[in-house]
Order: sequence, then structure tokens, then C-alpha cells
Amino acid sequence: MDKFYYITTYGCQMNVHESEKIAGILAGLGYRACEKIEDADIAVFNTCCIRENAENHAYGNIGMLKKLKAKKKDMIIAVGGCLTQQIGKADILHKKFPYVDIIFGTHNLNSLEELILKKQKSKKAVIEIEESEGEICEGDAPLRTSYPNAWINITYGCNNFCSYCIVPYVRGRERSRRSENIIAEAKALIAEGYKEITLLGQNVNSYANNTDDITFPELLQRVADIDGKFRLRFMTSHPKDFSEDLVKVIAANNKICNDVHLPVQSGSNAILKAMNRRYTREDYLKKIELLKKYIPDCAVTTDLIVGFPGETEEDFEDTLSLVREVGFSSAFTFVYSPREGTVAAKMDNQIPEDVSKSRIMRLVELVNSNTREQSSKYVGRTVEVLCEDYDDKKNLYLGRDEYGRMAYFASPSNVIGEFLNIKIQSANGISLVGNIVKD
Ligand code: SAH
Ligand code: SF4
Ligand code: F3S
Repeated sequence: MDKFYYITTYGCQMNVHESEKIAGILAGLGYRACEKIEDADIAVFNTCCIRENAENHAYGNIGMLKKLKAKKKDMIIAVGGCLTQQIGKADILHKKFPYVDIIFGTHNLNSLEELILKKQKSKKAVIEIEESEGEICEGDAPLRTSYPNAWINITYGCNNFCSYCIVPYVRGRERSRRSENIIAEAKALIAEGYKEITLLGQNVNSYANNTDDITFPELLQRVADIDGKFRLRFMTSHPKDFSEDLVKVIAANNKICNDVHLPVQSGSNAILKAMNRRYTREDYLKKIELLKKYIPDCAVTTDLIVGFPGETEEDFEDTLSLVREVGFSSAFTFVYSPREGTVAAKMDNQIPEDVSKSRIMRLVELVNSNTREQSSKYVGRTVEVLCEDYDDKKNLYLGRDEYGRMAYFASPSNVIGEFLNIKIQSANGISLVGNIVKD
């Protein structure tokens, strides 16, 4: 009889890719993907805890399964990911949702198969949260869902301990995969037909630090040297480790997109210091200058936090002025969310919610107006996009150019995974609309 799985993913690309690995494990056990959670024999929640609302979102969805589980007793519900790895959270989850069958931490992904088999033999919930990160496990075959892009982990964990951030606590210390394994994976994916490779790590620039392996710029170069037409991206870069060597490699290789995600978080030196980011506003602007020196048209995207403890109106204005100065092509904007166990959560100068809310609205308005202005300059231009998907609601295909700009267009045939020239006819806010140009 067919057995089905359904995975709900929260959080970052790291988690998206980990869900592909979970799918690979489930496929190995004979499960197939299904469209609706109601049809699943195993439902997995791959959670995130970067902000409180990410946690609440997961709690809400797990809560909604109570009724289904009461009707469908043999269904296995498994909860994994960053939320479960927080100290004490597995017990809280177990008490709150006693019908959850398996709770596994971020360091337990490699034993998920065992945990499922254990659960199938036992009535009790199986809870496994490994505290230490353990060895990197090679050789698992993810079931990829993001064609034509393929995610490849290069590092796991983080050593930076930005004062607001939970990631180092739930993902452990930074570990790097061996470059030969990364390059072999990229080669195989390109041979299989993937058209975009995205190298993933919390701080890719510190790849293989303190080891005998090659540096991140060398790794990028070697992946770019693989034969075939494809795009190469990476995320995330930490500004403190963003080097001239890296900029030179990006500039020298057409395959590496001229689109860099460089999270700044704040434009105020006092706040950057309190965040433990280990660079100043001036350092950051110098990195942008360096990037523009070698790659004048390089797009830069960023992450910004408002309402960090102690953020004054002047600090916030510094963030606004930095956004104006850099001209980011887009930015992810967040209201600071205290995370238990982090240094910032203990600070006694937390910002009232209404102040943060009004700041985020002003920031979003500025970021969007920058993006709209940049988009409008595209009208009349022809850009090369990689077609990524089909939008059912719009009845249009969509793709991105190397700068990450999204364009919609019509096509009589399926063109997902193809590079196409699109003449941009109009700009609707952030996204562009155009027509395929035959060459
Ligand atoms: N490793 C990456 C980002 C990981 S988390 C980096 O260092 O850039 C993604 C983004 O979430 C961060 O860049 C930050 O802007 C945001 N973030 C992290 N912790 C947060 C918190 N406690 N409250 C609000 N935003 C947060
Ligand atoms: Fe979090 Fe900072 Fe590490 Fe990014 S670099 S994951 S923000 S601690
Ligand atoms: Fe990613 Fe969320 Fe974990 S952002 S690393 S899934 S806490």
C-alpha cells in the first residue's frame, strides 16, 4: 500500500534544504510526497525559532493537527528543526502536544530513519535531542524540490554569537564540509541539469577557517570552473569577513551572479557594537565601495533589524540614511524579537512594541521605494532570466536575472530551467513583466 509524507518547512534556505534531506530519508523508507497534510501517513514539521512569530506559526500548525490525529491514529507526527533544539523546548512541546510522535533536534537529522522505525514499534513518543553537533554526515541523497536551483551546504552552525541571535545555540559551532565533497556534489548536479547552484552557510566567508582546506574564494572559483552553463550564488556573507579576494573572484567569473546578500542589520555604530557584529557603519560602507570598484553594477541585498534594545530615534535614522546611501536592491526587514538565552534578551532597555512597529513601517516604505525606483529603470531593457517557476494565478512563467530581479512572462511551452531573453514592458512595484525575445 502507498505511504505518503507531507513536510511543512519554516525558516531559512538552510531549513528548506534540510527538508529536502528529510524527504530523501522518507523516500528511502518507501514514502511518497502528497499534496495535502490530511493524506499523509507521516507529517513532519521542520521548525524555525529565529523570531517569536516563527515559533508561534509552528505551534499553530502543529495544534491544528490534533483533530486529524484523533481520527487517524496511525499517522506519525514528527517535529524537528531549530525550535526543538532550544534548551527545554522538547519537553514543552511534548506537554503542549502529547500527540506528537517524534521530536528530533537539528543534530539528529542523520538518525531520523532510526527514530521513525523506533516509533513504529513503540506507543510512547520518541524524543531525541542531541546536544553536541557531531560529525558532518556525507552521502545522504536529498530529494530536491527547487529545480532549476540546487542548494549545497558548505558550512553548518555559526561561531559569531551576534547578541540577538539564537542560531549559534540551536545549530552548534561552525563546521565546514570538505571542498572535494562540495565540488563533487556541484559537478553531479550540473551534469543532472541543474542551472543554478547556491552555496549555503550562516557565514560562508569563514568557510574552512582553521583547517587545511581551501578558502571560500578558492572554493567559489573551483565551483565556477565546472563546465556547463549555470549560475552560482552563495549566502550568507558576514560583512566582517567579506574580503577583496572574494570580490575579485566574483568579478572575474561570469557564472557568479553580481548579486550579493550582505546583511548589515543596523546603520548605527552603537547598535552594531551592542549587536556584537564586529564592524562599524564605515567598515560596511568600505566593503560596498570595494564591491562597486570591481563590479559597478553589483546588486546588494541586506537584512535589517529595528527595535534592538536601546535603539534611539537617532540610531534608527542612521539605519535609514545607510539604506539611502547604499541603495540596496531589496532588503529583508525585521522587528527585533528577544530570544531566550541570547545576550540581547537580558538587556534592560527593550524597545516598546509601538515604537518598533512605527519604525518598521518607515523602513519598509523606504526600502520599497528604492526597489520600485530600481525596477522602473528596467522598462525597455532586455535581460537574461533563468525561468524558475510557473505562477498559476497569473498564468505566467517567472524567472530572475542575475541581479535577482523577478520577471513574469508568457510562454506557450514549459520553459522552467531555461535561460531566456526577456524584454521588460512594465514594472509593477517590485516585479517586472515582459516578453520572450527570440534570438
Ligand atoms: N547568518 C545570517 C543570517 C541568519 S538569520 C547572517 O548573519 O546574516 C537571518 C536574519 O534574521 C538575520 O540577518 C537578522 O536580520 C534576522 N534575525 C536574527 N535574529 C533575530 C531576532 N532575534 N530578531 C529579529 N530578527 C532577527
Ligand atoms: Fe546569527 Fe550572527 Fe550567526 Fe548570522 S552570523 S547566524 S546573525 S549569530
Ligand atoms: Fe534558519 Fe530559523 Fe534555524 S532562520 S537556522 S531555521 S532558527
